[in-house]
Amino acid sequence: MRTRKDLLGLEDLTREEILEVLDTAESMLEILERPIKKVPTLRGITVANLFFEPSTRTRVSFELAEKRLSADSVNFQSTGSSVSKGETLKDTARNIEAMRVDMVVIRHGSAGAPHFLGRNLQAGVINAGDGAHEHPTQGLLDLFTVRRHLGRVEGLRVALLGDIAHSRVARSNLWGLRKLGASVVVCGPATLLPAEVERLGVEVAPTVEEAVDGADVVNVLRLQLERQTSSLIPSIREYARLFGLTRERLALAKPTALVMHPGPMNRGVEIAHDVADGTRSVILDQVTNGVAVRMAVLYLLLAEKRSEAGTALERTA
Ligand code: CP
Repeated sequence: MRTRKDLLGLEDLTREEILEVLDTAESMLEILERPIKKVPTLRGITVANLFFEPSTRTRVSFELAEKRLSADSVNFQSTGSSVSKGETLKDTARNIEAMRVDMVVIRHGSAGAPHFLGRNLQAGVINAGDGAHEHPTQGLLDLFTVRRHLGRVEGLRVALLGDIAHSRVARSNLWGLRKLGASVVVCGPATLLPAEVERLGVEVAPTVEEAVDGADVVNVLRLQLERQTSSLIPSIREYARLFGLTRERLALAKPTALVMHPGPMNRGVEIAHDVADGTRSVILDQVTNGVAVRMAVLYLLLAEKRSEAGTALERTA
């Protein structure tokens, strides 16, 4: 990771690079548990968070990660910006970069937008979710959460339930889990599974019961109504009845199984209230771990700039 400029997806990362992020995140989590949760590591570095789509967890988490590492950060949201006057993504990003920004974090509704910026900016680029393509920091924080709770990822059986076709979280999880040696089973309505899903190296279960049976981890995906251009499910009620994770279905998983969800949850649709808030749920741990993982990603990608900033600070001291 230290030699990379950008983090665009888990498809690009090696197993060793993923493990480097997870190991670094352990140290970052220790910082977050201190009474004073701040270190000077990224002093002198500036990060711009460009969000062209709504976000709660990822945006706040990146902002906190930057602050905990003492970077300066600026937040850009497309609503209220010159995007409404027709300014292009490239022009928007290059103008922000011209203000001497070192790293750009971008969430965008179009798959490939971070890759486009990666090619057109000298600043580093982190993908904070691009359309239905990838959400690499979510994939990393999910792996980190599994490893912390179960001690390993290799050899585990992970069930991914729901809207796989529209889920960037599913795609990043698939890449990451397979690289770390987990086996993945997916289950969802046929209309919400990508074409030729088996070619992704996963098992497809016909029912939630079969997917959850013996699972070490059950990761429930959000039903992404905003990305469905046509009616792909008969009704929300039908979806909840056939595919929702209930207490009864969860009882088929291993007694130690983790329940995960990237958020935001549609309670009572893809996940029952009592499962979301139950003893197996690690959903809020995922959120806590997200800050540590994003600190690790920033720390590793900015390794070279960190030493330049440190030298510059020493010269002026
Ligand atoms: N998990 C996730 O990406 O949540 P937000 O959309 O709130 O950032």
